[in-house]
Formats: sequence, C-alpha cells, structure tokens
Amino acid sequence: MPPTVHVTLRAATEALGEAGVDNPVLDARLLFQAASGMTHADILSRPDEEVGLRVEMAFDAMLERRLFREPVSKILRQKSFWDMDLLVTADVLDPRPDTETLVEAVLEARPDRGADHTIVDLGTGSGCIILALLREYPNARGIAVDKSPVALAVARYNAEQLGLSDRVSFVCGDWASAVADGLADIVVSNPPYIRQGDMAELMPEVRDYDPALALEGGADGLDAYRAIIADLQRLTGGEGLVMFELGEGQADDVATMLQQEIGANILRRNDLSGIARCVGGTWRNSAKK
Ligand SMILES: C[S@@+](CC[C@H](N)C(=O)[O-])C[C@H]1O[C@@H](n2cnc3c(N)ncnc32)[C@H](O)[C@@H]1O
Repeated sequence: MPPTVHVTLRAATEALGEAGVDNPVLDARLLFQAASGMTHADILSRPDEEVGLRVEMAFDAMLERRLFREPVSKILRQKSFWDMDLLVTADVLDPRPDTETLVEAVLEARPDRGADHTIVDLGTGSGCIILALLREYPNARGIAVDKSPVALAVARYNAEQLGLSDRVSFVCGDWASAVADGLADIVVSNPPYIRQGDMAELMPEVRDYDPALALEGGADGLDAYRAIIADLQRLTGGEGLVMFELGEGQADDVATMLQQEIGANILRRNDLSGIARCVGGTWRNSAKK
C-alpha cells in the first residue's frame, strides 16, 4: 500500500534528524510541498492521503540531496530575501537572513528614499543586496560587481525577474578595479570573510555547497576588506557611505581599517542574535589620503 503524507513526512524527518540537519521537520515539509504541490494547510488537513508514485519519487530525489546536506534553497533553486524571491544556484552564496541587516543599515544611514544614489555592490553573488536596495530607493542606480561570471548571470536573471534590469549594470572584475573613478556614493559589500584555517570546520551546507570564492577571505579573513577600503576614496571621489557585512569578531578590525585609511565616522549594526554584523562609515574629503 502506498505510504500516506503523514508517514512519508515522519520517515523523512527522522532520516534528516539522524543526518544532523538543523530543522528536519521544516526541511522535510518544504521539500514535500515542492514535490507534491501541496500547501502547508493541505498537509495539515489531509495527513492520511496516499502519496502517489510520482510524488514519492520526486520527494525521494530531493530528500537524498538534503541528506547529503545540500541546503533546501539550492535544491529548490529559490530563496526569499528582503521582499524578493531569488534564484539561487550552486554558483552563488545562499543569501542569508543576516545580510538583511546590511540593507537595514544602509536605509538607516541614508533615509531619503527618493535620492538618486549610485550604489556599488562589490561581490554581488545572487544580487540580493543591490536588488533589495534598488527596490527601496526607486531613483537609485546600481553597479553589481563579481569576479565570478556565473554568479553575475544569476544576479542578472534576478534583476530581470524583478523588473530592475534598467537600473543596474553588471561588471565582472576584481572588486572595484573595473568601476570608474568617483562613480559611487554608496558602496556595499558582503565579501568572503572566513579565515583560511576555518574553512574545513564550516557546516557541510556551507563548505560543500557555497562557492569557495564566496567564502574564503585569506589567512585572517580580512583580505577583501583591505582591498576594498584601499580603493574607496577613488571609487567615491572622496565622500560617501560604505557598509560591510562581516563575520563574528571582525567588527573592530574593519572599523580600525576604515578609520585609519579614510578617517571614516564609524557606523555599526548588530544582527538579530546581537552579533556585530555590519560595520561601515561615512567620510568627506578625508585628509588621510
Ligand atoms: C560572501 S559572497 C556575497 C554574495 C552576496 N552579496 C550575498 O550577500 O549573498 C561574496 C561574493 O564575492 C565574490 N568575490 C570574491 N572575490 C571577489 C573579487 N576579488 N572581486 C569581486 N568579487 C569577488 C564572490 O564570487 C561572491 O559572489
């Protein structure tokens, strides 16, 4: 006899729990919804419904991938970020809720939503940061940079889906090296910040399924911040706002770099767990460079 929805979900939840998955109940349900087309309400109201062979096979294939610790978002090729549904593939970092803190920090530092900012996003990945900001600033333009051409293709697709293509250009390059002088008034970046020596200890979902180029930040995790900060004055014409996402314990180092290199007034913002997740700064015609 074919298994029921309830039995199928219970077995999947148990298997995921044994495989060390953090939220086995949620993940089993999300995958089952995708395989079956049932909503959460359908599942709750029809637990004894039999699962057909096609659904069972589709669900098993997805479950197998999750048992190998591939994230649900990469299996479903979709992730919600801010108020958007984004395509995510193996070529981009899975956008994290923590990164919404960076978007909030920029909105707080530049509250005029009508301003015609030029925003440069260094290491755009899926495009989550720049696309969220362009939705919040309807008169702004964006330049989305990534070293990975395949990541840029994903960001470009997301921009098209959101109707934002006419306000964002995509540049393949090493940080801001291919962006013209004095173009930006806001620079945002969530660069790779994992210390080389910590890479092996990352959760399998991250270590095995996010691109290494999106993760590894050199011996102390701060290589990208050094490179970007050294170029900020040129990129902004000596005045602007920068906002970085960073890893736990890196806020003071990045703040010090910003003060020493460009004499920035430092801005900080914690994520929902109280971790200093964003550091940035504003500056004007710094005398230091
Ligand atoms: C941590 S991911 C952030 C992706 C996205 N902005 C987000 O917040 O989800 C860092 C991104 O930086 C890109 N990257 C790494 N090194 C780079 C470089 N030298 N120049 C430009 N982009 C780079 C990676 O390809 C990756 O897409």
